[in-house]
Amino acid sequence: MNYAIDGGETGKSRLNVLGQAMNEYSVNALRKAGIRTGFKCLDAGCGGGMMTYEMANLVGVSGQVTGVDFDEEIIKLNKRELSDLQIQHISFQHTDIQTFNVEDEFDLIFARYLLSHLSNTKNVLSILVKALRPGGIILVEDVQFSGHICEPASEAFDAYLKWYSRVVELRGGDAELGARLPEMFVEAGLSHIGVQIAQPIGLTGPPKQMSLLTLDKIKIALLESKLTDESEFAKVRSQLESITHDVHTLMSIPRTFQVWGRKKA
Ligand SMILES: C[S@@+](CC[C@H](N)C(=O)[O-])C[C@H]1O[C@@H](n2cnc3c(N)ncnc32)[C@H](O)[C@@H]1O
Repeated sequence: MNYAIDGGETGKSRLNVLGQAMNEYSVNALRKAGIRTGFKCLDAGCGGGMMTYEMANLVGVSGQVTGVDFDEEIIKLNKRELSDLQIQHISFQHTDIQTFNVEDEFDLIFARYLLSHLSNTKNVLSILVKALRPGGIILVEDVQFSGHICEPASEAFDAYLKWYSRVVELRGGDAELGARLPEMFVEAGLSHIGVQIAQPIGLTGPPKQMSLLTLDKIKIALLESKLTDESEFAKVRSQLESITHDVHTLMSIPRTFQVWGRKKA
């Protein structure tokens, strides 16, 4: 497993905060991309499934949404939650997207913050495009990590950005991928390509909490990769925690590219 951020139950609670910051922007992009009632959709790398539920809401009970993720624990938690809610048009599956082998199946595929963690992004994009029916829509959202905002500037925040990008890179990913997505869509033969940027930001609230939450979830990967040690990590974490709680500091989540296109009919 090359994923740098801890998953499972605590990973799911971090993703819930991410969803609180980002879901309204993702729903906006899904609408612009052309999601419709009755669509059969895939949420690739669904994590805790927050967008799977949003998509189910958009397609209605005549539609269907499948959330897939290779984190076995998170999929188990999602299935448990789903059975309590008794929603029939959602399902969750434990799947590695790199070996997903489905053809001409989905009306719409959504992948948020998945591709930047993978080394074979072009190949995975072609796997996703293959899974779309002719004329189907794909929406990918991913980061350009250097596009974060922290005002006033902070050395601890800069250390977090540098560590995150490096640890993702060491595991084969690319934390700058977002800006390259539109060209990848052209190369993949997609048409009707649209692009916009989303970047939730705040003096308080979910967008501001994300950096500290993410730093905590990459601690093991950072120590394993010897990018820092316990004492330096603790120093940076304490500074980041203090500016996170300081209402005079403005902080954003990563600049997020939202890119959509259509498979040729
Ligand atoms: C940053 S999280 C985003 C989760 C969700 N899309 C969201 O926006 O809330 C990335 C997710 O991709 C999953 N993932 C990473 N590599 C994967 C792979 N090869 N196949 C399936 N899922 C993968 C991780 O387990 C994690 O849940």
